[in-house]
This record gives sequence, C-alpha cells and structure tokens, in this order.
Amino acid sequence: MKNKNILLISDLSGAEIQALISDAIEIKDKWISKFKNKTLALLFEKPSLRTRVSFEMAMRQLGGQAIYLSPAEVGLGGRESVADVARVLGRYVDAIAARTFSHRTVETLAEHSGVPVINALSDLEHPCQALADLLTIYEKKGELKGLTLAYIGDGNNVAHSLMLAAALTGMNFRIASPPAYAVQDDILKLARQYAGESRAEILWTTEPRTAVKGADIVYTDVWTSMGQEAETKERQKAFANYRVDGKLLSLAKPDAIFMHDLPAHRGEEVADEVMDGPQSVVFDQAENRMHAQKALLAQLLG
Ligand code: CP
Ligand code: NVA
Repeated sequence: MKNKNILLISDLSGAEIQALISDAIEIKDKWISKFKNKTLALLFEKPSLRTRVSFEMAMRQLGGQAIYLSPAEVGLGGRESVADVARVLGRYVDAIAARTFSHRTVETLAEHSGVPVINALSDLEHPCQALADLLTIYEKKGELKGLTLAYIGDGNNVAHSLMLAAALTGMNFRIASPPAYAVQDDILKLARQYAGESRAEILWTTEPRTAVKGADIVYTDVWTSMGQEAETKERQKAFANYRVDGKLLSLAKPDAIFMHDLPAHRGEEVADEVMDGPQSVVFDQAENRMHAQKALLAQLLG
C-alpha cells in the first residue's frame, strides 16, 4: 500500500480497498497467522466496544498483541504533548491505532511516531468503519460498483468516510440530512471528484424519502456523536424526521439491507422494528470490523 498511515479512507485507493476486501474474506476463511511479536498500541480518548475489542482480537488472532491505553492513563496533550507521546510510543510498539476528538491529533501522532498510525475514529473520519461496511456490502450483494447506498442522518465522521469510500469504489451515495448537519463542504467536493473518476453518483438532500427510494442499502448513525452530548436536545429536535423506521425502509428495494455502525440509540435514529428486522445486517457488520482490520494490519505490519 502506498500509505503507511491510514488516517483518512482516501489514504487508500479504490483498488486498495477492493484488495483489502478480498484479503479480509481470505483471512476470514483461513485464519492466517501473519506475524509474531508485533504489538499494536490502542490509544483512546473516547469510549469504545467494537473498535477496541476487534483490534485486540485481530492482533491476537494474527499472532501479535495489543496494549490498550485509556485517556486517564496517558493524558494525551495534557500530561505530555501529543508529539512526545508519539515519539515515545513509537520506540515500544509496531503500530498505533488512535481514537481522538481532533483529527489533528491523529495527524500529529503519524508525524512523530515513526510507526504506522491508524485512525480508530476522529471527529473527521472513521475509515476502519467504512472498510468493514464495504466488506459487509460486498458479502451481501456480491459487488459494490453500481449499488446505491442511502445514508440518513448526521453528516458526521462515519458519513464522511462512508461517502468517500463509496465514491472511491464506484458506489452511488445519497445522504439526507438537515441543512445545519450536512457533511463538510470539502469532503463533499472530494467525494464528487472521486465519483467523477469511478462514475458514481453523489446526492445530498434534506428529504429522507428521496434518498431511500430504490436504494440497495439504508444506513444510519447516531444523531449525537461522542463529545456532542451537550447538544443532545437540539439534535433530537433537528433530526426528528430522520428516523429510519419500517415505513421509510419500505421505500428501498425489497431486498435492501439495513446498516448501522453501532452503538445505536434505539428509538432515535432507528426503530426497533428495523434494527431487529429481517433486513438488518448490523451484527454481521460489527463482526466484520475484526476481519477488515486484520486485512489492514496484515498489509501494514505483515
Ligand atoms: N462502531 C464503532 O466504532 O463502535 P465503538 O465506538 O464501540 O468502537
Ligand atoms: N458518529 C459516532 C460513531 C460512533 C462509532 C461518534 O463519533 O460517536
């Protein structure tokens, strides 16, 4: 792979994303032990279930190990500067997966650690989630190119990476969000540029039904992301018409799948009938975090 740091989903090309999906499927079948004595540091400023456990298990199953460092332990940027934390950690471990508030923090870690840095979610992007999402779509639908994904809700980190990943691999991407909660302009512009090359269509609308109509995949994420808790009430109001329920999902293709990166706030962005319904693939999607990350780690460390 041309990049040794994966901070943005666009640090991978469309071809590299496709290759990682093939690797993940192969590793999933065979459980390949790729490396011994390699250590990944998990440096987290925010809580996590899936990302932490899937990275830890991925390292174990590949024959290496992981060390989890909680916010309280390291005091990233408080007890010590981010650059110095990077310089020190890089002397001990073979790679760092970091979950941060500011995207600048993962960039600083990458600049100073001397080892590969993987973005395990920042306020800007969640590239590992997008990789697992595309793996899941590929497994369920047998292709990516030409499919249409409808994302309903907040134009957040998950939406950014997913939109760019879709554009890189030729999947049509429609997003419905309130005007004040749309994806960032620069990300939309970049997605349109990639989509021009892959012949994908990118659409932003404020109308969930327009986005979902005839879609192959319906996707949503929380209205209030980690760090935005003070805005919960105003977000609940702004997103009230953006809940994915059975009625909205019924506008998609009859064989459409429902996806969510989890954790879900049931009753807010998604109704139980959809989360627990026959079209939901959310737990396969969560499992695939581990398989997609194994493929990525094998490329970066193998
Ligand atoms: N989807 C995801 O990243 O979940 P966690 O926050 O539990 O890691
Ligand atoms: N957008 C969510 C994703 C959680 C995995 C957040 O940043 O909290």
